[in-house]
Amino acid sequence: MSDSVLPGRVVVTGATGKLGRAVVAHLRGVGVDVLAVDRVGGRDPRDVDGEFLLVDLTDYGQVVEAFTGGADEHAGSIEAVVHLAAVPAPGLMSNAATFANNSAATYNVFAAARAAGIRRVVWASSETVLGLPFDTPPPYAPVDEEYAPRPESTYSLNKVLEEEMARHFCRWDPELVMVGLRFSNVMDVEDYAPFPSFDADPRSRRWNLWGYIDARDGAQAVERALAYDRPGADVFIIANADTVMTTSSATLMAEVYPGVEIRKDLGEHETLLSIDKARRVLGYEPRHSWRDHVDLR
Ligand SMILES: NC(=O)c1ccc[n+]([C@@H]2O[C@H](COP(=O)([O-])OP(=O)(O)OC[C@H]3O[C@@H](n4cnc5c(N)ncnc54)[C@H](O)[C@@H]3O)[C@@H](O)[C@H]2O)c1
Repeated sequence: MSDSVLPGRVVVTGATGKLGRAVVAHLRGVGVDVLAVDRVGGRDPRDVDGEFLLVDLTDYGQVVEAFTGGADEHAGSIEAVVHLAAVPAPGLMSNAATFANNSAATYNVFAAARAAGIRRVVWASSETVLGLPFDTPPPYAPVDEEYAPRPESTYSLNKVLEEEMARHFCRWDPELVMVGLRFSNVMDVEDYAPFPSFDADPRSRRWNLWGYIDARDGAQAVERALAYDRPGADVFIIANADTVMTTSSATLMAEVYPGVEIRKDLGEHETLLSIDKARRVLGYEPRHSWRDHVDLR
């Protein structure tokens, strides 16, 4: 586990998004100087309360300007980038538009960071690379980072390509530290009310093996990843420690995926998206659970 210090000034992309808002608030709360960027928002303090710059990441020039302190009022040396901006799921836009936006944005962020001499990049990969929606059963459970990606959508294919792109950026520049966080389904506290209804049909949430990530724990993972300082590209699954279900994890697997090998003694509600690597290497430890926000009596 790394005990490196956090970078002083950081760009966060996708800052007005669901995860971005939580990440910006969290990083500012632990003393990081954040330049928040997104292509929407900014005039309303509810978007991002603090320094903000409108940037379309598909325009390389705008990204370079943001990363090099070129934009008026936004000078200051950037030490790290947290790249969260994306069309955040399959099916929101056409496949081609999703690919065009997300691949161009991520290439521009990676390339501009390298050109600006920024050594640390943390970016949002996705649980989808693990094989969601698991119409083909997972190879074993809990799933982890040890098997080859299985993208089943254009959105996910792009996330896989981003992971591969990061490996080559690090091969070109061995000083780079690039951390891909394979986030599970992002949840705010307001999203927890319907969780108890999921138990009526265990198959309704099998598409991501009943996982989720509380946005506040996602933000903690970003902080941990920013403190990680081992050169090279690496990826980590980031989920909460439990599932979205009250049915036990062992029962869910036995009922829905009876042929799948279970590789450990599962805790009652233990996540089937393994966070062991993130715990071990990053020191990530989720602090929240939907169970603390819903009356289960
Ligand atoms: N939401 C989930 O369940 C989930 C799960 C796994 C991974 N992720 C990933 O986490 C990241 C954040 O997701 P989110 O849920 O906060 O999504 P979101 O849609 O709430 O936020 C994404 C933000 O990115 C911005 N953006 C998109 N394209 C841009 C561009 N070209 N230039 C500038 N800004 C741009 C959008 O304006 C938006 O504010 C994404 O990379 C997503 O793929 C999300």
